[in-house]
Amino acid sequence: MGKIELIGTGLDNSFIAISDGSKRLITKNLVPGIRVYDEKLINIENEEYRIWDPFRSKLAALVLKDSSISIQKNHNILYLGAANGTTVSHVSDIVTNGIVFAVEFSPRAMKDLINVSTQRMKLVPILADAKNPKSYQNIIPEVDVIYQDVAQKDQAMIAIRNARMYLKKDGILVLMIKARSIDSTRDPRDVTDLEVNKLEGKFKVYELVNLEPYHSDHFAVVAQKIS
Ligand SMILES: C[S@@+](CC[C@H](N)C(=O)[O-])C[C@H]1O[C@@H](n2cnc3c(N)ncnc32)[C@H](O)[C@@H]1O
Repeated sequence: MGKIELIGTGLDNSFIAISDGSKRLITKNLVPGIRVYDEKLINIENEEYRIWDPFRSKLAALVLKDSSISIQKNHNILYLGAANGTTVSHVSDIVTNGIVFAVEFSPRAMKDLINVSTQRMKLVPILADAKNPKSYQNIIPEVDVIYQDVAQKDQAMIAIRNARMYLKKDGILVLMIKARSIDSTRDPRDVTDLEVNKLEGKFKVYELVNLEPYHSDHFAVVAQKIS
């Protein structure tokens, strides 16, 4: 491998590594030597990084689609739809001084997530249904960012309910919309537009990004809470 150039992204501890014409998104590994799934580890100037695959993570895809999204190392994050921790683990690499509260309702996925959290002390796994945010009200403080990826019918409503309870004013919502989970018979862009309209009055929408070619029929919404 030739010389590697690192370019910062809007996410702390995350870079685009350019070498020999190839471009890879990476996060600085919070737990050197430990992989979370089967991601590759690379060393650059005595630091270990994890390669972050945009085909496996919608957040990675969003960053590579030139989003202006910013997540800082001291941010607290409420992550809805954590699954077995693929993207969550990279978010925990990013917010080294903050806490990631990771909500997931599948007990099977939760088992893996708990394993990931044993190595990452500021990752808090919560077995709960994101449709009922009151069920975790004793655990979660106000957060800077809500990241949601739940592939459900009522995706905007879940985000609105959680933001009302937990997102600070001016906080950021990153909502991954899987149009086919809402209505598989209609055009995905039309379905997404209807879902985004539901955020009106509560959020200012900054970006609506089609995640092709990484994730088909998926759109990412980046919005700021205004009330
Ligand atoms: C597309 S996967 C998430 C992938 C994950 N965000 C990643 O990038 O690594 C969607 C996850 O949301 C979870 N989920 C769906 N509805 C949920 C709900 N109402 N409450 C909590 N988790 C939910 C599913 O069990 C599934 O694990």
